[in-house]
Amino acid sequence: MSDNTIIRFEQVTKQYDQDPAVLDNVSFEIERGKFYTLLGPSGCGKTTILRLIAGFTEPSAGDIYLNGNIVNHVPANKRQVNTVFQDYALFPHLNVFENVAFGLRIKKLKNAEIKTKVQEALRFVNLSGYEEREINEMSGGQRQRVAIARAIVNEPEVILLDEPLSALDLKLRTEMQYELRELQRRLGITFIFVTHDQEEALAMSDEIFVINKGRIQQSGTPTDIYDEPINRFVADFIGESNIVEGKMIEDFKVEFANKQFECVDKGLHSNEPVEIVIRPEDLEITRPENGKLQVRVDSQLFRGVHYEICCYDQSGNEWLVHSTKKAEVNSEIGLDFEPEAIHVMRFGETEEEFDKRLEAYNG
Ligand SMILES: Nc1ncnc2c1ncn2[C@@H]1O[C@H](COP(=O)(O)OP(=O)(O)OP(=O)(O)O)[C@@H](O)[C@H]1O
Ligand SMILES: [Mg+2]
Repeated sequence: MSDNTIIRFEQVTKQYDQDPAVLDNVSFEIERGKFYTLLGPSGCGKTTILRLIAGFTEPSAGDIYLNGNIVNHVPANKRQVNTVFQDYALFPHLNVFENVAFGLRIKKLKNAEIKTKVQEALRFVNLSGYEEREINEMSGGQRQRVAIARAIVNEPEVILLDEPLSALDLKLRTEMQYELRELQRRLGITFIFVTHDQEEALAMSDEIFVINKGRIQQSGTPTDIYDEPINRFVADFIGESNIVEGKMIEDFKVEFANKQFECVDKGLHSNEPVEIVIRPEDLEITRPENGKLQVRVDSQLFRGVHYEICCYDQSGNEWLVHSTKKAEVNSEIGLDFEPEAIHVMRFGETEEEFDKRLEAYNG
């Protein structure tokens, strides 16, 4: 564990009653001062992870460390963690100033100190001058900022944000993404942000945990996860993908669409069935004879920045292509791609198994 680690989950399982585990043997580390995103479909366990970090619930098995100490049974108010909830949970009968001041009053700080801190927090979120406003006179985006000011005023080490942007319209949401990211950089506090929107996760995070059914499927930087999805779930969940079935021939050689291709993957069994991912933007349209694959154009849509072209090869695989070039519907075209564009995935492989496989290969 590095000195920079602020939170660590070690084989944490959370189970309610006799139901199957909501979180199943989850391990990860969170470093100080970074922006993390928990990304996954509804019900996968994102909020449960936040609740465990905040201390609103205890693990059924495993350990949670904060700053190197086990905190499994430490109550929420004894942790340097603040949460911004999806509905902001602001007090409607208090004005903006008092909403932000609430935690400081409980801590019995002096009035002058409270005033300084609240004003500074409001300045951080661009709400100076709104102190006297009632909560119901604020817009959705402004309420969101009040909720953030209320969290940062306590100077926590970690801020947890549970889908804080989901109630906002698209334009405001994009603005707030920039603002939140900027705020995190200025404050240097660790942010753990929950979303089920993959574009939001890619745009905002230093690191993303992709979660499905109570397990972390993959963790890494946005580019890691986008470029090297570890299994079908991740490839499908993050961005648009072509996923076809194939077979590993040997290291650096894979077969799909009844042809063999050079690739950069290794460490699988010879003749092992695999799944292949190629991103639509990694496919280049050529004349049929110059392409690695020959396909027939089925349909084409103009998407503003590129054409989205849907094709089929002779084995019946569908290929989605993003191209600035136009194609002719019903014509035959070639598709060219680099060996690096082919991502080979073992069926249902987890991140742990993937790491072990590469270690075994390298060692
Ligand atoms: N107190 C509880 N008792 C029993 N089951 C619960 C409890 N809280 C959550 N769960 C279950 O745990 C699972 C994970 O819930 P969680 O709220 O962590 O999901 P989530 O990823 O945040 O989903 P969403 O995106 O819909 O908010 C769900 O199946 C949910 O029904
Ligand atoms: Mg949730």
